[in-house]
Amino acid sequence: MCLTIPGKIESIDKGIATVISARERAQIDLSLVFQAQVGDWILYATNRAVKVISEEDAKEIISLLEDKYHPVDVSKLPLKFKKIIFKVRSGNSNLTKDEILYLLSLKGQNNLETLFAEANTLRKERIKDFICIHGIIEFSNYCKNSCLYCGIRKENKVPRYRLNSEEIIDTAFDAVENEGYKLLVLQSGEDDSYSDADLIDLIVKIKQKMKVFVFISVGERSEKFYQEAYEAGATGSLIRFETSNSELYTKLRPNKLLKDRIKLVKAMIKMGYYVASGSMVGLPGQSLEDLADDLLTIKSLGVPMISAGPWLAAEGTPLASSNVMHNNAKTQLELMLKFVAVARFMMPDVKIPVTTALETLDPENGRHKGLLAGANALMFNLTPEKFAENYSIYDNKYREREKVWQKYGLFKGEESWEMLEEKLMLDK
Ligand code: 5AD
Repeated sequence: MCLTIPGKIESIDKGIATVISARERAQIDLSLVFQAQVGDWILYATNRAVKVISEEDAKEIISLLEDKYHPVDVSKLPLKFKKIIFKVRSGNSNLTKDEILYLLSLKGQNNLETLFAEANTLRKERIKDFICIHGIIEFSNYCKNSCLYCGIRKENKVPRYRLNSEEIIDTAFDAVENEGYKLLVLQSGEDDSYSDADLIDLIVKIKQKMKVFVFISVGERSEKFYQEAYEAGATGSLIRFETSNSELYTKLRPNKLLKDRIKLVKAMIKMGYYVASGSMVGLPGQSLEDLADDLLTIKSLGVPMISAGPWLAAEGTPLASSNVMHNNAKTQLELMLKFVAVARFMMPDVKIPVTTALETLDPENGRHKGLLAGANALMFNLTPEKFAENYSIYDNKYREREKVWQKYGLFKGEESWEMLEEKLMLDK
């Protein structure tokens, strides 16, 4: 579901309110909240009001989205930066590799704040403040792979768990019925103890039992499996290509080839999946040029949603103590935010979730910073508590769920389902 915007009713005429929000005056249909009166605060999405709220709640949500960055005087920026900004402002999102590299290498507070502010402005212009909230259920941390970066690689000694079909369905049902989630990601390591048929059966059961969009994130399986899963009701898929540098790819994912991964991503797009793809940012051995290529790869794939996050050292993995160019949380966070902002420049309408890895880097503000750098979706972890701590693909994973986001972002009405449905269709 997507976050709504708070606004104050200025006047009402035949069920239509004129509403003032932080940045617009809008005509809003009051049919769902017909008791609303002039002077009330409401939450609205697109052009419908969904709820009357207190002034206090309205102020709280306004502060969640408040801009911290004030664009500096553009005339004081380096000429090259200025040119790129004007290019993007004029609606040209086809940045060259040289321009992408330039933006990713920007330094200095003024430059960075301008970059983030421009990306945030673009997000607001193109997709307003509709921040979508999704839930993720990590149903198994068994994995048959040995990816050098990953905390649940098969050699790693972590307590393993698997949810059975009933536990997954119960977790999903609770999220959908009790909390109002409308889009759930089912994620696991590459765990063959769930056969293709098991996973398909799971999707069918979930779709039968509740009204929800199901996205799957189970790694590499056959195209036949993905075709059947789509037919069984899976709407989307999270499948990263991890890095667009093919040598680095095979180094980090022994015996695997980038071209096979890209082939699978493309096949899923063709099947009709709503595909989220992307890479890890700040991997040991990854250059800024690689990151520029990652962004160009995402753009050329044409996916409606990006799935990208910072690489974080995971205990017990071969990369655990890697000394990388971005070896502390602050530089890693900065690099990730730059990546998000440049992605927004290059793909103004794409959906960019703030990943849990970004929140881990900055538990207090990661989410807010991600949104203000141009991201527009949040992912909440719904894995049952007793298992969640074992799904440690990296260390110190940030788990706290901010109730306040859920309060404003999750609604149970039929209309909120329709809105998301419309959006998913339009994006693709
Ligand atoms: N740091 C950040 N992201 C990681 N992933 C796996 N291990 C790590 C790590 N140490 C990401 C991969 C994978 C996704 C599910 O998690 O990109 O595709």
